[in-house]
Amino acid sequence: MAQDSNLIYMDNGATSFPKPPGVPEAMLHFLREVGGSPGRSGHRLSQEAARIVFSCRESLAALFAAPDSRRICFTLNATEALNTALLGILREGDAVVTTSMEHNSVMRPLRELARCRAVSLEVVPSDGAGRTDLGGIELALEKKPRLLVVNHASNVTSAVLPLDRVGALAKAAGTLLLVDAAQSAGVVPIDVQRDGVDILAFTGHKGLLGPQGTGGLWVREGVDVNPLCRGGTGSNSELEEQPGFYPDRLESGTHNAVGLAGLNAGVEFLLATGVDVIAAHERKLATRLLEGLNALEGVRVHGPDAGESRTSVISFTIPGMAPSEIGFLLDEAFGVLTRVGLHCAPGAHRTIGTFPEGTVRLSPGYFTDPEEVEKVIEACAYVVRKMGGGR
Ligand SMILES: Cc1ncc(COP(=O)(O)O)c(C=O)c1O
Repeated sequence: MAQDSNLIYMDNGATSFPKPPGVPEAMLHFLREVGGSPGRSGHRLSQEAARIVFSCRESLAALFAAPDSRRICFTLNATEALNTALLGILREGDAVVTTSMEHNSVMRPLRELARCRAVSLEVVPSDGAGRTDLGGIELALEKKPRLLVVNHASNVTSAVLPLDRVGALAKAAGTLLLVDAAQSAGVVPIDVQRDGVDILAFTGHKGLLGPQGTGGLWVREGVDVNPLCRGGTGSNSELEEQPGFYPDRLESGTHNAVGLAGLNAGVEFLLATGVDVIAAHERKLATRLLEGLNALEGVRVHGPDAGESRTSVISFTIPGMAPSEIGFLLDEAFGVLTRVGLHCAPGAHRTIGTFPEGTVRLSPGYFTDPEEVEKVIEACAYVVRKMGGGR
């Protein structure tokens, strides 16, 4: 439920809201009582700040079943994590395979690397619901590229890749696997060892239920990522070269410790509640939304069916009506807050045939009530009626 009871927040795919109890409190506690710079000064407030940052690393390691929390490196968001991984792994002339469902935070750095480092790029096509065929990935891996980068859960259609099977294919090819978990972390169980992930990029402010300005990269032991940025780490200060050990190798400059205090509380909430419980609640909401929207004549839902491997993100269009117009009506008349357009993923919209106008995206979250879902369905029915049943 949104804080303003007249609003129905259906935009958790962009950023989750509200945050669980404990998140704002942890941030306020940091600002009011702690305040020190983590890992810099030796005094008690700096040590307490370092303890909070360490605790956040440990919570994330527990969530992703990562063996060593020191391999979790904090960034500003998933975009910075993905840029760090792509620019820090790919060298002149390397080959990389990806899918047609990627976000611009993967495609833009890849296009730049194709231009400036002659990196060759193969894009495996996905189907009209955004599902990527594993056979296509297997075929592309026959050329033994250096890196496979995949979107775990689509921010446009919700299709979820079977990560363990993708990981096994990458391992067999000797290809590194980088996973964009921006839409899956916190709503789809991830076990980096079981799933054969080499590098996991995540954002803190969506399914992990933390504040904006947090995110990170988990890098498997034995894989090295060249830093995007170098500077003060509070360690090895006698050296003018960047430390070689993690997380300091990828974490220069003062942390967003206030944000990490909030992220820690968000991930602790997830661990206490259980990703399975969260996923089950969201699946129920999505199933009802899909049922309600599919029953409306003139509405086209894009993405996998309710029983398939998917998250709760739902994209729809009403032929003859611009997504921006639908989103405006839903907001203006019903307080239903959605995200319309291309969702920073033009390739995904080309794949499902909704480029260039895009779709209307509904993304309920753990704090969405079933009654709110009913109101959203009624609001969509009103929009369709206003259009004369679609055109
Ligand atoms: C699939 C996907 N990848 C990457 C991102 C980028 O996340 P952030 O904006 O937190 O950097 C998003 C966020 O919209 C996303 O949905």
